[in-house]
Formats: sequence, structure tokens, C-alpha cells
Amino acid sequence: MFRRDDSATFQVRPGPRLSGSVSVSGAKNSVLKLMAGCLLATGTHELKNVPAIVDVGIMAQLLGSMGVEVTYSSALAEGDSGEPDEESGGRTERTSERGVKAVAAGTLSINTPEAIVPEAPYELVEMMRASIVVLGPLVARLGRAKVAMPGGDDFGHRPIDIHLKGLEAMGASVESSHGYVECRADRLKGARIVLEFPSHTATDNLVMAAVLAKGTTLIENAAREPEISDLATFLNCMGARIEGAGTSRIEIEGVDELSPTSHTVIPDRVEAATFLAAVGLAGGEITVEGARFDHLDMLIAKMADMGMRISPAPGGIWASSEGKLFSTDVSTLPYPGVATDYKPLMVTMLAVADGVGIVTENLFSGRFRYVDELRRMGANIRTEGHHAVVRGVPKLSGAQVRAPDIRAGSALVLAGLVAEGETLVSGAHHVDRGYEDFAGKLASLGADVHRV
Ligand code: EPU
Repeated sequence: MFRRDDSATFQVRPGPRLSGSVSVSGAKNSVLKLMAGCLLATGTHELKNVPAIVDVGIMAQLLGSMGVEVTYSSALAEGDSGEPDEESGGRTERTSERGVKAVAAGTLSINTPEAIVPEAPYELVEMMRASIVVLGPLVARLGRAKVAMPGGDDFGHRPIDIHLKGLEAMGASVESSHGYVECRADRLKGARIVLEFPSHTATDNLVMAAVLAKGTTLIENAAREPEISDLATFLNCMGARIEGAGTSRIEIEGVDELSPTSHTVIPDRVEAATFLAAVGLAGGEITVEGARFDHLDMLIAKMADMGMRISPAPGGIWASSEGKLFSTDVSTLPYPGVATDYKPLMVTMLAVADGVGIVTENLFSGRFRYVDELRRMGANIRTEGHHAVVRGVPKLSGAQVRAPDIRAGSALVLAGLVAEGETLVSGAHHVDRGYEDFAGKLASLGADVHRV
């Protein structure tokens, strides 16, 4: 399911102004947690609006290695050959080269048996850090979990101490050895947990651990991302009792058992932000169908400061830009602040904006590595610790660059829209981890982007 292709490159040339509409897929950072949440109850679960991205394939592989059966199917898009996908038993969809037709959303069927192997091996955790979210559900339902410790990555040092301290507060024993962390508890107990930082996946993990704990758990300084509210909605449909998700104080009353349900994944706000940035850079007028304006408030305010016009539209977001941007300062913060995931997009916009913008990264120390690639394209950016000073230049210059991670990869493709000549972004597989048919969707707006 959604295999990684290491050889692909995006070929980008500046094109006409963007126009038309594009649909956002289901949120990567929601569906991965929902898939892990399926470990909490035996039986067949259904997730709808699932994006066809590599990370969903990795999570499916991880659940499969535990003995869970995962199948993906998608409604057929117009003109699709409809060949069955050998691995999933479902149908894969093929979009035309320009990807003009709407991409049909997929459905995952996840069948969780009573007995599963509560382990997440290194090979899979190394491929995708989000694998760590199986920890909470495994300890909660099976009383044991052995999960490879994720290492650092391109963002810098990424510890999991907040996840582990929370589980310990609920009575789990935690032992680390040989690169694995092992947690055990006969049954977790409700506790008051104050998070040192509103970590997104630690909040996911602790909510999923608490739903089957004995008694009430209170998570203070919880992360407030919309994906956490989506997870809580899903778990409540399964019979959990969670209140306050989406605020910094989540209260969970543990129940004895949960049962499977059917749930539709919320739209991906980072994918939506990417299309907004694309029209900001290239100019034009587009509608991002399915995008939630209320999930993107702060980013939209920043983009408006930069000269874009953005407003809610029926069923999505409308955006227009003259292709002439003005600088602003940006500081990343946990939700509802400007997300760190939007930063490469903002830095790319600032790189061609009129004036000087200062960008401050407050979440991941190493998340400026792609800046060297933008410099190779002629951007004038100076980094100092967790700050970047971006002096806008009139035009970038097309070059061969490498995508270092999902979000930086998509931003480099957008940089190619305003770079003279041809830009080749290698490492497309990073982008495939989080974007469904990225080139096809941009091409459907008129951008000159191909996957080669
Ligand atoms: N932190 C700790 N200890 C912990 C956990 C986090 O010190 O136990 C620190 C981190 O080092 C970082 C900060 O807390 O400095 C925030 O990290 P957080 O835990 O919130 O990030 P995450 O949950 O690992 C999720 C998303 C990221 C997104 C961040 C920030 C998923 C699967 N990943 O990561 O998404 O950048 O929140 O919003 O939900 C992406 O989609 O490309 C992506 C990287």
C-alpha cells in the first residue's frame, strides 16, 4: 500500500497564474493517530477520507506486523483503469498526468483481533516517528508495549520523555534498553498530568492511554491541534468519555471497553496551507475545497499581512494574490499559533517578498536545514540559532535541489514556481509521505509541475 519510490523528482517551471479549485485530502497527522486508536478495540473499524500517502502505508505495515488486518479501497476516479491493488485487495486510483480530475477519497478497513503482538520494530519507527503513537493504546488494552525509541532527525533532537512521564504517572513501569522502550501496567490508573510542553503526539498517546484507564485522567497544558479534537471525536464514538479536546485541559473518564466505529478524517490543514502559499507565490485565484478556514486562522492572518486575499468560501477557502508579496515576521508556536509545519512555506514566500522578514522557530531546533537549498536558488537568508533573516529578492533561480523532509520538500517545489528556468527537486519520496498526488494537484491549478 502506497509504496515509497526513492527515484522520483519534481520538475518545476514558472507558469501562468494559478486558477481553478483543488481538493484537500484527509489529514495525515490525524489519520495516523486514528489508525493507532483502532488498537483500542477488537473488531472492524472504518476510516473514511484517508489520504493515499506513504505514511499511511507505513502505519498499515506497522499494524500489520502486530497482526492487525488493514485494507484500503478508494472510489474510482473518472478514467481510472480500476486495477485491483495486489497488496490491499482494494482499488488504487490513477490520476491523469495533470491530475485534473478530483481525487476520490479512500477508506481504510482495520480489523483488530483480540491477540496482537504489542511491538513496534526499529525498521518502521525509524521510517516514521509518528509510529510512537501506538505506545498509549497498546499499554492501555494489552498491558504491555515494546516500541523502538525514535532517534533524532532532520529537525534535531526529538525526545519522547513527555510521553513516558505521562504513562508513568498513570502507573506504567517504563524501561529502556537496547534501543527499545518497554512499558507495562496491569491496568493504567487515571492521574493528573501536567505536560511540560503541549506536545502533539504526547497528548495523542496519553489520551489514548487514558480512555481505558481506571478512573479519571486530567491532562493539563495539552496540545490543542484540530487533529487531537478529531481523535477525541473518534474515540468518543467508540465509547470513550473525553471532554475538553481542543483546549489545554482534557478530562478523560476511563471505561472498561471500547467498540469499533466508522469515522471521517478531517481535512489536512498543512496541505491546504501549501496550496494557499502556491497561489501567494505564483499569483492567481483559487478555491481550496474542503479546507477549514477556522483551522488556519493565524496562518491566514500572516498571509493577509503579506498581501494575499483569503476568505471562507462554500465548502472551502478562496484565495487570491497578485503574486507580489510583502515581508512580515513569523514566529512558530503550538496551535493555534503559526505551526512549524508552515514555516518552510512562509520562508519561501518571504524569499521573494518585498522587504525583510524575521522567522523564529520555537519548536524544532534543526528545522532550518532546507534553507541551504533555497540559497542555492538565489534566496538571501541568514540563519542564526533559531532565527532566520529573510531578505526578499525579485526572483529565484531554478536549480537542482533536494527535499530534506515532507514540508521543506513541498516548499522547494513551490519555490520552483517563481524561479527562472527549471527547478528539479529530488527526494520526492519525502513529499509523498504527506501529500497525495502533489504534482497532479498543483498541475490541476495550472502550475507547470511534473513528477519525473
Ligand atoms: N518534545 C519533548 N519531549 C517529548 C515530546 C516533544 O521535548 O516527549 C518537544 C519536541 O522536541 C519539540 C516540541 O516538544 O521541541 C514539540 O514537539 P511535538 O511533540 O508537539 O511534535 P510531534 O508530536 O512529534 C507533531 C507532528 C509534526 C508537527 C509537530 C508540531 C505528527 C505525527 N507530527 O509532531 O508534523 O511538526 O507536531 O506541530 O502529528 C509533519 O507532519 O511533517 C510533522 C513533522
